[in-house]
Amino acid sequence: MKVAITGATGFVGSRLVERLHESGDRVLVLTRNPERAKRVFPSSTFPNVEIVAYTPTESGEWQKSLSGCDGVVNLAGEPLAEGRWTPERKQAIMDSRKIGTQRIVEAISQANPKPTVLVSTSAIGYYGTSETATFDESSATGEGFLAEVCQAWEAQAQKAKDLGVRLVILRVGIVLGMGGAIAKMIPPFKLFAGGPIGSGRQWFSWIHREDLVNLILASLRRSDIEGVYNATAPNPVRMSDFSHTMGQVLKRPSWLPVPGFALEVLLGDAAVVVLEGQEVVPKRTLQFGFEYQYPNLKSALENILFS
Ligand SMILES: NC(=O)c1ccc[n+]([C@@H]2O[C@H](COP(=O)([O-])OP(=O)(O)OC[C@H]3O[C@@H](n4cnc5c(N)ncnc54)[C@H](OP(=O)(O)O)[C@@H]3O)[C@@H](O)[C@H]2O)c1
Repeated sequence: MKVAITGATGFVGSRLVERLHESGDRVLVLTRNPERAKRVFPSSTFPNVEIVAYTPTESGEWQKSLSGCDGVVNLAGEPLAEGRWTPERKQAIMDSRKIGTQRIVEAISQANPKPTVLVSTSAIGYYGTSETATFDESSATGEGFLAEVCQAWEAQAQKAKDLGVRLVILRVGIVLGMGGAIAKMIPPFKLFAGGPIGSGRQWFSWIHREDLVNLILASLRRSDIEGVYNATAPNPVRMSDFSHTMGQVLKRPSWLPVPGFALEVLLGDAAVVVLEGQEVVPKRTLQFGFEYQYPNLKSALENILFS
C-alpha cells in the first residue's frame, strides 16, 4: 500500500510509520516541518518514506500528492494537554482538526486515482465526561469544549463518505506507550511521590500504543471495517486504580494524591483532560474481532516500563 499520513511525526504516527515500513508499505508523510520529519525518518533507514511539506489549514499544491495513495491516516492536531487553553490555543486546537480534516477531504476529492480509505482520529472526549455513565460507539455526544472539537472534527471526516471513500473514525482513548502521557507520570512515582490525580474516581479509558497502531493498520487493510470505533482497551480503570497499578509495577508507593487544584493552577481549563474522565468501552471494535495484545492495564504497563 501507499499510505499518506498527517501528524506522522507524533507519538502515534511515528510508530505507525515504523510498522508500515516493516511491512514493506510506502508512506507519504505530510508535515508542517519537513526538516524535522527528515530527522525523524532518515532516508537511510526509511527509503520508502516520502516527505511533503504542507500547511494543514490551507489548500495548496500539497493536495496533489494524495493522487495514487491507497489510504490516508489523519492524525494531525494541536496538542490538547500541553499548557493552558488560551483563546488562541483553543482556536488552534479546533482549527487544526476541523479545517485540517476539511482540507484532507478536499485533497481526496481532487486525487486521481483516489485513495479508497480514510482513517481519521477523533477522541473519547466526544462523549463528554461522567463518573457514572458507560459509553459505547452508539452513545450520544456530550458537552464541553472537547466534545465540540470532536464533533466538528468527525463532521468534516464524514464528508469523505460522499466521495465513495471507506471511512473509519477512531475515537481514541489515552494512549499509553514510552513517551506521551506515561513519561509525565513516571517521575513522581520514581521519587516515591506517586498517587492518583484529583479525586481518583474519574475514569481513565486507555489504550496501548501498539494496539492503536494495530487497529489503524486493520482499518486500512480490512474492507469490512467501516464507521466509528472506540480505540480504547476493553478494561478501562478509575484513576485511583491506574495509580495503584503504576505503583505496583514500579514497586513504588502510590498513596500521595496530586490535588486537582494544583493542576488547575498549571493548566487552567485544560486540567479537565486529567481531572475528569469517561468510561468508554470498545463495543464495535470487539464485535469485529479485534484482538488486543494488551487488554489489561498491568500487562500494558509492564510492557511499556520494562521492555
Ligand atoms: N496521545 C493521546 O493520548 C491521544 C488521545 C486521544 C486522541 N488523540 C489524537 O490522536 C492524534 C495523534 O495523537 P498523538 O499523540 O500522536 O499526537 P502528537 O504526538 O501531539 O502529534 C500530532 C502531530 O500533529 C501535528 N501537529 C501538531 N500541532 C499541529 C497544529 N497546530 N496543526 C496541524 N498539525 C499539528 C504534528 O506533526 P507535524 O509537525 O509533522 O506537522 C504532530 O507530530 C491527535 O489528533 C490526538 O488529538 C491522541
